[in-house]
Amino acid sequence: MRKILLASAALLLVAGANAQETPAPEAAAAADATAEADATAAGGFDWEALGESTYVNCSGCHQPDGTGVPGAFPPLAGHAAELAAMDGGRDYLIHVLLFGLTGEIEVNGMSYNGMMPAWNSLDDDAIAAVINHIVAGWDDAGLPDGFMPIQPDEVAAVRAEALSPDEVMALRPTGEAADADADAADAPEATATPG
Ligand code: HEC
Repeated sequence: MRKILLASAALLLVAGANAQETPAPEAAAAADATAEADATAAGGFDWEALGESTYVNCSGCHQPDGTGVPGAFPPLAGHAAELAAMDGGRDYLIHVLLFGLTGEIEVNGMSYNGMMPAWNSLDDDAIAAVINHIVAGWDDAGLPDGFMPIQPDEVAAVRAEALSPDEVMALRPTGEAADADADAADAPEATATPG
């Protein structure tokens, strides 16, 4: 190590001496190789194994297969991908994980009014990885087309906001798929009066 440092220092001196000289080719090649190795996964972040291991924190409530518990813990399988596809969904998922969530929500026609704990004790890598894990789902389909894996620096950028779970609720995307809304609006008016 010491030798390498000395060698680099010597190189710098040489480079400094002929100011226009490019860095040693060997050094540049080594840096390229490392960068390539890091970029194995899409987006350069290898989240699969970390996402799966981090999910042990979630499975007690959302269940190992992500199906949740009706009325108590919302499903994540399929649903997390829906959220991710909505306007603001990507950002919302990061906020839910970091700061938790409270208040009434509806998922697949079932209402939930519980408390999602904040996971800001997990580091940026673990949070990004577990979100990618739930968005990819449990059927080996992988991430939805066009969904770039969440990166640790996106989590880092939001962490300092320190929102409350109520404030996270305000960020929850309401945009159920535009088509579904249109269908509901087209539905004929109910003729019978209740009671
Ligand atoms: C102690 C039980 C519990 C644990 C553990 C837990 N959650 Fe939750 N989670 C909930 C509850 C309850 C809600 C719904 C909150 C509400 O009703 O407002 C929720 C909501 C969510 C939502 C938002 C769903 C939506 O439709 O807005 C996501 C995403 C989520 N959890 C992911 C996770 C992940 C990932 C983990 C593990 C890191 C995890 N949860 C751990 C109980 C839990």
